[in-house]
Parts: sequence; structure tokens; C-alpha cells
Amino acid sequence: MKADIPIPYSRALVTGGAGFIGSHLTQALCERGCRVVVLDNFSSGNRSNLAGFDDDIEIVDGDIRDLSLLESAADGCEAVFHQAAVVSVPQTVEDPVGSALVNETGTLHVLEAARRAGAARVVIASSSAVYGDDPHVPKRESMPVRPMSPYAVHKAVGEQHADVYHRLYGLETVSLRYFNVYGPRQDPGSPYSGVISIFLSRAAAGLRPVIFGDGKQYRDFIYVSDVVKANLLAAATTAAAGGRFNIGTGEITRIRELWDRIAELAGTGLEPEFQAPRAGDIVASVADIDRARSVLGFSPRTTFSTGLRKTWQWFAEAGQERGRHADSH
Ligand code: UD1
Repeated sequence: MKADIPIPYSRALVTGGAGFIGSHLTQALCERGCRVVVLDNFSSGNRSNLAGFDDDIEIVDGDIRDLSLLESAADGCEAVFHQAAVVSVPQTVEDPVGSALVNETGTLHVLEAARRAGAARVVIASSSAVYGDDPHVPKRESMPVRPMSPYAVHKAVGEQHADVYHRLYGLETVSLRYFNVYGPRQDPGSPYSGVISIFLSRAAAGLRPVIFGDGKQYRDFIYVSDVVKANLLAAATTAAAGGRFNIGTGEITRIRELWDRIAELAGTGLEPEFQAPRAGDIVASVADIDRARSVLGFSPRTTFSTGLRKTWQWFAEAGQERGRHADSH
């Protein structure tokens, strides 16, 4: 059993536990001796993400829109990690009402189910999207939220619900604002998937990538196992209750440089194709992680080179054995 970050809970619920981040988190909790209930509707999650450790978990095939199902899934759980969401920004733009039922009402259901179940703590996945296109960098938690999409509104509202549950009911809620998360099990299947998963799958297939704009725009890419550690620390740190934390690395990578590094890993000389910038694309995004460092004791461990290499290995082995090759934490 892993003892680096001890988890003071014997049973936890992970919503979206079969998804990209949720499955890594579920695996890490199992490795620390915590019994996990995974609630997932398998709309973007996949059972193959749980291969190898599904004996240690209970899977509830269902939806966070169903409060009574959530209530029974949360029964006996001391901690809840809320990862389920409509994660595609464009999907929330196309369907602002339907996605709000999942992202906003669903988050409220998770908080309410946790309260009724008598859980101590709820850690919710928020997003750097709440900062919108504010050009000031690095992003600090004290900056005002400026949602630019339904997705960002959902995440900002979810944080506010979490704050209210903390203040009104004493539920220990923590919101984690993820920056650009990457790693094994990230699905490259949609044009709106994370840029790293898209570039790696293009490289693996020997295809040129598309760079939107001049490629000088930059992001703060964080490896999934560091995001998992942030969740474990958020669950285990008493002083985190009621807080909001940026979860990034504080380092930047420009999109053009990203492709050059991937091309080198893949041993390809393919040049990117440049297209017009995406509407609403943010030029600069990087986290100030001082608050997470000082309150949670969080510090990202995986360098970008290591994370990219591990993720490339996973993509290169892609296909039939996906999931089984993912890292343990
Ligand atoms: C990410 C999140 C989004 C969140 C936002 C907050 C993902 C998938 N999306 O969006 O949920 O609202 O942060 O800041 O993590 N790009 C290319 N070619 C491609 C794909 C992307 O050049 O084939 C560029 C994009 O134009 C963008 C950059 O790569 O400049 C990153 O794109 P993407 O991975 O989609 O993430 P964000 O737009 O940062």
C-alpha cells in the first residue's frame, strides 16, 4: 500500500470514476487501501480505464442527474471526489441547458448526496476556464471569475454551491481549478480533445497536426498523476476545507514547441499545418500555485519531458491494450 499521502477515509465515492482523471484517482485511492464506489454513466468514461483494479471497486452505472441513485452510491462514503461532467466546452455551447443539468444541477446533487450521507469531505473538479480571457498571468485565485462559456459558468457555479455547503452545513468542500491536464487514458477522439492527446495520436498515425494561430500561445500542462496527488492532498488536509486552489505547474509550453517535442519523441519530421486561430482561444494561461503549495503542500512532481514521454509511450502502444499500460501512482 502506498503511504506517501495517507488517506484518512476507508470508503470514497468517485463520480466520473471511469473517465480520464477519475480512473487514475480511483486507482490511486485503491492503492492506498480505500474502498471506492465509482459512479459513471459511461458517456465519455470507459470500463477499460478500470482494467486491472476493478476487483477493488464497486461500479454504479448511472448518472449524477439522478439524486436518489447518488444518495445510495454515497451511502457509507466518508469522502466524495466529483469528477463527472460534460467536459467539452463546445458541447456546452451547443447544449447550454442539457449540459447545465449535468454540470450545475449534477454538482448540486453530489453535494446534497454527500450531506445526506454524512460524508466529511467533497473535492470538486473545477477549471482554469473560470478565469476566462483575463490577459493577466499568472492566474491567481484572488482574481475575479470571468466565465466565457456555459462550461465556465457551470464550474464557477459549482464552486459557489460548494462554498455554500461548507458555510451552511459544515460540509468540508474543496474546489480544484485544473489547468491543462494530460496523460495516459486521455481520449483524442474529438476535435475538441486536449491538444496533447490530439498531437500524440497524429504523430502515432504519421499525420501532420493542425496548429490554430501562430503556435505562440501557451498553456500550463499538468500530468494526470500530479492532479491525482492534488486531490489526495485536498482530501487529507484539514485547512483546505472551504478553499479554491489552482492546480497547475506554473510553467509554460507554447503550442509550436509542443509539436516540436512530440515530433522528436515520435522520430518524425512532419511539419504542422497552420490554420486560423480558434474563435475565443486564450493566448496565455499559466497558474500561480502558491496557495496550493502553502495550504495543501502540493508540488508537481512530473516534469513535462517525463510526462510527455510516458504519455507518448501509452499512445504508441494504443489500441487493443489501452488502459493496461497506464501508470500506477
Ligand atoms: C482547456 C480545456 C478547457 C478549459 C480551458 C480553460 C481541454 C481539452 N480543454 O482549453 O476545458 O475551458 O482550458 O483555459 O483541456 N490547438 C491546436 N491544435 C489542435 C488542438 C488545439 O493548435 O489540434 C491549440 C488550441 O487552439 C489552444 C491550445 O492548443 O490554443 C490548447 O487547446 P486545448 O487543448 O483544446 O485546451 P484549451 O483551449 O486551453
